[in-house]
Amino acid sequence: MAQRETWATRTGFILAAVGSAVGLGNIWRFPFQVGQEGGAAFLVIYLLLIIAIGFPVMIAEFVIGRRTNRNPVGALQRLGSGTWRYVGWLFFATGFLILSYYSVVAGWTLRYVLLGLQGDFIADVGEAEAQFVSVASGLDALLFHAIFMAAVLAVVGFGVRRGIELAVKVLVPAIIAILVGLAIYSFTLAGASEAYSYYLSPDLGTIADNWRSILPAAAGQAFFTLSLGMGVMITYASYLGEDRNLAEDGGIIIGLDTGIAFIVGLVVFPIFFTAGVDPADPGAGAIFVTLAAAFGDLTFGWLLGAIFFATVAIAALSSAISILEVVVSYLVDERDIDRLPATLGIGTAIFVVGLPTTLDLVLIDLYDKLVNDILLVLGGLILAVFVGWIIYETALDELEKGVRDLGSMGAAWIWFLRIPAVIGLLVVVALGILGYYEFLTGDFADWIGDTI
Ligand code: TRP
Repeated sequence: MAQRETWATRTGFILAAVGSAVGLGNIWRFPFQVGQEGGAAFLVIYLLLIIAIGFPVMIAEFVIGRRTNRNPVGALQRLGSGTWRYVGWLFFATGFLILSYYSVVAGWTLRYVLLGLQGDFIADVGEAEAQFVSVASGLDALLFHAIFMAAVLAVVGFGVRRGIELAVKVLVPAIIAILVGLAIYSFTLAGASEAYSYYLSPDLGTIADNWRSILPAAAGQAFFTLSLGMGVMITYASYLGEDRNLAEDGGIIIGLDTGIAFIVGLVVFPIFFTAGVDPADPGAGAIFVTLAAAFGDLTFGWLLGAIFFATVAIAALSSAISILEVVVSYLVDERDIDRLPATLGIGTAIFVVGLPTTLDLVLIDLYDKLVNDILLVLGGLILAVFVGWIIYETALDELEKGVRDLGSMGAAWIWFLRIPAVIGLLVVVALGILGYYEFLTGDFADWIGDTI
């Protein structure tokens, strides 16, 4: 087997992880989750979960990856015994499923860049909605799904240093610069102050009344946006050649991802409030219907919109490559398949699995809810139990490398994994399964009934 690659530079790893974390989750999913779950109330719970659960679980993934220098399937086979050895497969399957529909949604963003350049954004929300439906399903969706997938395959095919590391060094700074520019623009809009109070001042009553839906939504979003629960961070940390301070790196990555999602809220909500749109309405179409309509209403909106959607596409690309890398690294490490054929073969299979979601939006929900509300949090729960209760000695030993003095931080980390993460995630998985059952017997059954 060829020698396993490592990151060329310190920042290469951090940028790749940030590139993975910052994606559709921050720009497409985050605003409509906030909108549907009550604004600032959601934001507070989300931030708490990021710190109390997201951070410890991210470090757990890092430690597993660096210790074993293996893809998630191989890493768990080496560290775990008994049933633990098979957990990597759950990650493999989850990654496969995520990328299949992620690429479809990313394809919409490419199509919207073109709509902007052609001056085709429509100011009327009703018509914008019809336009979105025609972009989001059918032949258009299929075509742009294929184009996006081809771009992902190209980057991953080039490998860790020449592909991923090079790409993220350009992509990540570009994303940050453009979003900050757009947030400044939004600040000048008439609806800005109303939007800020909706987004930034939480109402405890709303939290108390709605925790059953806020909690799983916020936890799913926290895992999705940080790329946790399916082994991306295991894989990326497995390419670390030197012993870096993983806690510090995790802090930087989480800070940047959370900061960027926060800025997206500052971009999007003033536009909603200025256009007179209730942020709870848009759902999965939020940035594609409501925001695109707002762009249609503005002078130079076509240009702003094209820039915005290009940013989303770029962010989606740096995330999608991380998902594909998990799956490809398994084939390369364990099956001894060359990188290029592995990438092309598995990429084509993922493309095919994504095809149903180009038929109807409800099928996007079918995949997205399964992934976010169940599989990722389940993956996180398993990781928390595994690292917190089973291999904690090895884990602490590994974390200590690169940290001069762990002090009480190590014990705190294990404690967070053992109790708050495990209990919190158990509740969330249970609520997620109930919610998914309701979706299957509700919206989804209705759709099947209508179609057949
Ligand atoms: N974090 C990315 C986003 O916010 C999506 C993503 C990339 C992801 N890799 C992942 C989500 C792994 C879950 C697991 O868009």
